[in-house]
Amino acid sequence: MAYYWFKAFHLIGVVVWFAGLFYLVRLFVYHAEANQEPEPAQSILKKQYELMELRLYNIITTPGMIVTVAMAIGLISTEPEVLKSGWLHIKLAMVLLLIGYHHYCKRLMKQLAKGECQWTGQQFRALNEAPTIFLVVIVLLAVFKNSLPLDLTTWLIVALVITMAASIQLYAKKRRQDKEKLAKIDNNAELASSSAK
Ligand code: HEM
Repeated sequence: MAYYWFKAFHLIGVVVWFAGLFYLVRLFVYHAEANQEPEPAQSILKKQYELMELRLYNIITTPGMIVTVAMAIGLISTEPEVLKSGWLHIKLAMVLLLIGYHHYCKRLMKQLAKGECQWTGQQFRALNEAPTIFLVVIVLLAVFKNSLPLDLTTWLIVALVITMAASIQLYAKKRRQDKEKLAKIDNNAELASSSAK
């Protein structure tokens, strides 16, 4: 019975951890794009994002990681046989990379707070695809275990996920370009009307 409890809370931890990771980098996008706003809006927005990022990291993301790992230790201690499985070794390697990503986000958060981060909103959008890859690979490993199929269906699913991620990036880029075009047209119209006066 303990095994099921550990597994249930392991999965709850995973959901909380990933919700935090995805939202944190989305906040970084807004934080970086606040640089394009005029003052005093820029300072107000940056201060607000800094506070939201810090709270999200400390209250949601890091506790989500701790619960996931603590429950995984519980799972392994109730069923130590699982440690011999090859899929778990690959999963552990992926989780170590994910923990590295988690800490890298903390570094970026500190740089943003100090105004030392050179990343653009577009770069943060691309970075936010990394947890998607971790999520897909780790969940596939946890569910299929040693019998993860590498047939055509799996590759089609992988291609679909990559296409979806690329489409989101392209859509965001197009919206940004349209916004910039509109701002230019507004600017030109304003200049034309002031010179006509
Ligand atoms: C310290 C890191 C982790 C360890 C040691 C670990 C270990 C385990 C173990 C032993 C199980 C039980 C497998 C079974 O009952 O057959 C499990 C289940 C699971 N884990 Fe993890 N895990 C870790 C992190 C993660 C992460 C980060 C994710 C998601 C991205 C994840 C997703 C899952 C899922 C979806 C299951 C349920 C699989 C099933 O019942 O078929 N785990 N994990």
